[in-house]
Amino acid sequence: MDRMAAVEANQGKRLLQALDGHATTPPPVWMMRQAGRYLPEYRALRATTSSFMEFCFNPAKAAEATLQPIRRFGFDAAIIFSDILVIPQALGQPVTFEAGEGPRLAPIETPEGLKALSDTLEAGVLDPVYEALDRVKGALDGQTALIGFCGAPWTVASYMIAGRGTPDQAPARIFAYKHPDAFAQLIDVLVRASIDHLDRQIGAGAEVVQVFDSWASVLPAPEFEAWSFQPIARIAAGLAARRPGAKLIAFPRGVSARQSARIAALPGVHGVGLDTAADLESCRQAIPSCVAVQGNLDPLLLLAGGPALEAQIDRILETFAGRPHIFNLGHGVLPPTPIAHVERLVARVRRNG
Ligand code: CP3
Repeated sequence: MDRMAAVEANQGKRLLQALDGHATTPPPVWMMRQAGRYLPEYRALRATTSSFMEFCFNPAKAAEATLQPIRRFGFDAAIIFSDILVIPQALGQPVTFEAGEGPRLAPIETPEGLKALSDTLEAGVLDPVYEALDRVKGALDGQTALIGFCGAPWTVASYMIAGRGTPDQAPARIFAYKHPDAFAQLIDVLVRASIDHLDRQIGAGAEVVQVFDSWASVLPAPEFEAWSFQPIARIAAGLAARRPGAKLIAFPRGVSARQSARIAALPGVHGVGLDTAADLESCRQAIPSCVAVQGNLDPLLLLAGGPALEAQIDRILETFAGRPHIFNLGHGVLPPTPIAHVERLVARVRRNG
């Protein structure tokens, strides 16, 4: 695509406009985990494959799951159906999901345990993700942007070390305190693997990438700097070096307005995600107005619905009016969320109801 054609293509896509630093009325809207169990059509498709990882690595099914919420709600962005744990899988640490129990990996208990891992993504393992992106790209209209993603190194490492989800990421924090050099090496491997994976996703058609640091907020300040902030900075810079102008949204979940603002100011970062508990006024003041803010409706409020939902949607819209903003939740949509509430959300953001 030549430059003019690229500019014209962006004009139809509100998400790209926001990430270019423009305020749009209405703002673009999409939801984290928008493809998932709250949709009956997702549950039906998901029931055709018992293993979640197999489902993720089936390009036709992953592409279909990606498109389901777009057909139903007309969101401004489609996020590729995959998972942050495809990276450990591609580094040689197999991942399984037990129904209702979340991810399981063989935990890494000692620095020696890291030696069994590859230091780069194993060839071909993530090709189905790129094939799924290629399929979705061909099915989207001129208004819907395509998002690729990965987990941030700290969040992914927390699952690799513990071998499962944990309430406070204690196993990874203890490992990092006891074995800082080995942990730094794991983070380095994940930084490089993340850059490679995001680069390949862009090559396959992703127009934006998001880095999910779901567990950023548990770390004390020095560890936040070393294991969350710096790795995100290195990913943004490394991706920008390979793909100049690549649009990246960083989502360091649960951090302060000051830290969100520091992340927003990093070279290569175009948007910053705000979680449910973020103080909007502090964020509005602290985050540079050339960077898009994304968020931050409470997923439980979307589930609950009613007048409180409408009021909070309006409040978020008002707080961020006049600056680049991407309407989203503060975390992923919850499985029991009624579809009618999501329809209300989209209509309200677009001022159609
Ligand atoms: O947003 C989207 O619609 C795209 C798909 C997507 C999934 N996972 C699909 C999924 C994305 C962006 C993710 C990110 C992800 N995965 C994160 C970061 C965001 C966050 O929620 O904090 C994390 C920490 C994971 C790891 C993960 N995957 C866990 C802990 C679980 C189990 C918990 C759960 O919700 O069941 C998953 C499984 C998973 N990933 C599901 C989906 C739709 C549910 C499993 C299923 O449908 O069978």
